Amino acid sequence: MHDPITHHFDVLILGAGAAGMTAALSLPAHCRVAVLTKDPAGGSTRWAQGGVAAVIDDQDSIASHIEDTLVAGAGLCHDDVVEYVVTEAREAIDWLVNQGVAFTRDADSDAFHLTREGGHSHRRILHAADATGWAIQDALDCRAEQASHLEFFHNYIAIDLIYEAARGRVGRRVRGCYVLNKQTGVIDTFAANAIILATGGASKVYKYTSNPDGASGDGIAMAWRAGCRVANMEFNQFHPTCLYHPDAKSFLISEAVRGEGGILRLPDGTAFMSGFDPRAELAPRDIVARAIDHEMKRLGLPHVYLDITHRGADFIGDHFPTIRQKLLELDIDMTTDWIPVVPAAHYTCGGVLVDQHGETDLAGLYAIGEVSSTGLHGANRMASNSLLECIVYGRAAAAHVTEHLGTYTHRSYALPAWDASQVTDSDEDVIITHNWAEVRRFMWDYVGIVRTDKRLTRALNRVELLAREVQDFYANYRVTADLIELRNLVVVAELIIRCALKRQESRGLHYTLDHPDLSKHPNDTILIPGKT
Ligand code: FAD
Ligand code: SIN
Repeated sequence: MHDPITHHFDVLILGAGAAGMTAALSLPAHCRVAVLTKDPAGGSTRWAQGGVAAVIDDQDSIASHIEDTLVAGAGLCHDDVVEYVVTEAREAIDWLVNQGVAFTRDADSDAFHLTREGGHSHRRILHAADATGWAIQDALDCRAEQASHLEFFHNYIAIDLIYEAARGRVGRRVRGCYVLNKQTGVIDTFAANAIILATGGASKVYKYTSNPDGASGDGIAMAWRAGCRVANMEFNQFHPTCLYHPDAKSFLISEAVRGEGGILRLPDGTAFMSGFDPRAELAPRDIVARAIDHEMKRLGLPHVYLDITHRGADFIGDHFPTIRQKLLELDIDMTTDWIPVVPAAHYTCGGVLVDQHGETDLAGLYAIGEVSSTGLHGANRMASNSLLECIVYGRAAAAHVTEHLGTYTHRSYALPAWDASQVTDSDEDVIITHNWAEVRRFMWDYVGIVRTDKRLTRALNRVELLAREVQDFYANYRVTADLIELRNLVVVAELIIRCALKRQESRGLHYTLDHPDLSKHPNDTILIPGKT
């Protein structure tokens, strides 16, 4: 058995997706930075397809990008935050290009090729064909190899934050983190003056999702346990078009396919979207996902179809090489066949409440990227605004940490050691696998695209029971990665349900048959630890 280690750094970053890597690369070389990832395959960033939204075209305008974001967000976006992020977008793109990201350019003019997605009234999505996330992650990873101030710890899963409680006038401050080294099974301690949560979203709480396995909301649950407020968790976004195929887990069919003319069809060929919204296939995601869900339930269908065959093989091959290849492996040729699609959980619009620097309620603790609730997305995120938010807030948090690092270091703090003296090895791991499946199934059935008070209350009863079981397990058995994630999933599920029960209206991604109208006084749903 290895001995636990205490590591000391200036800054600890949990997560190495677009948000974490942007912060890491934006911190100065004199700062000693640890970057942790819980699995080498990475988070959602690598799988992003469509692109990054930014005003580039002369015919487009910042005002229009702001307006589109506000409309998609259904009255809950924070105007100042939307203006800030959209205005910073051009610089964010320049920064990415400087890091080596090769966005697709027009063959004839060498200008960036701009594609279109739902909710955007202009072509403003920069992309690297249909594998934008891959291009971004590779470029940032490659840049990090040359950055001597960064030390990476892969296969280390953070369990809980360590923080100093308030004493007199001195506020609560984050001090470190307990982390399971997945290779040795030992729990190390990381001490740091500032900690940046960049752990991604929580869509794995649903049975069907476009997200990779690690999207278990760890950062949200850790921040909540450390006393930070969490907001707008009821707004989990369902992407309208994930591939429906028994051999394909979680494969997304990019919204850019609809942006470039893809049509949603019923099995008899009927194009149904214009019956739901004048913007048809390019309406915001909440509307398209609900329309598909409605048609599937009305006709008892397992899926609908997405048809882009009319754009021809050359166009499809140029614009969607990754999707085409993946489909060919499954015997679907998207140049001649319609693609079977269903909605699936895709993006966590809510999260840990932060200010414009990405700082949370706990001094020294930041949350950036999908883990956070900045106010940008409101009740529904517009396509390709997420990677943009990762870059803008990654840079903002790094600048704020850099400015305040000197003020953090003046007091020493003895980190309490992790206590494993009361626990034994579990001989009942079936409880973990069963509870994983159970929470994801009832979240899908009861807290999905269309909700009711009764279903939400049922889900709350179940999650409270599961929370007790998991806590009991956690207190008595040695922690494993699966148990850590399950514990977090259960917390996140409860936060989603509690937020959903509080919202007595239908807005954006939260649609309930019991309260179908919009409230006249839109408000964020803010949960305060100890007061739910
Ligand atoms: P992630 O990229 O998810 O990274 C999370 C990191 O945290 C990982 O390194 C993980 O290992 C680490 N981590 C998590 N928990 C722990 C823990 N407990 N301990 C240690 N490390 C931990 N958005 C767009 O704007 N445009 C798109 O085109 C687009 N396409 C998408 C396509 C797909 C299939 C998906 C799933 C999402 C897409 N999104 C898109 C959304 C966007 O990709 C994500 O919101 C964004 O990449 C999140 O980045 P992040 O840095 O916050 O987290
Ligand atoms: C997609 O390519 O459809 C995903 C875009 C996004 O989630 O912003």
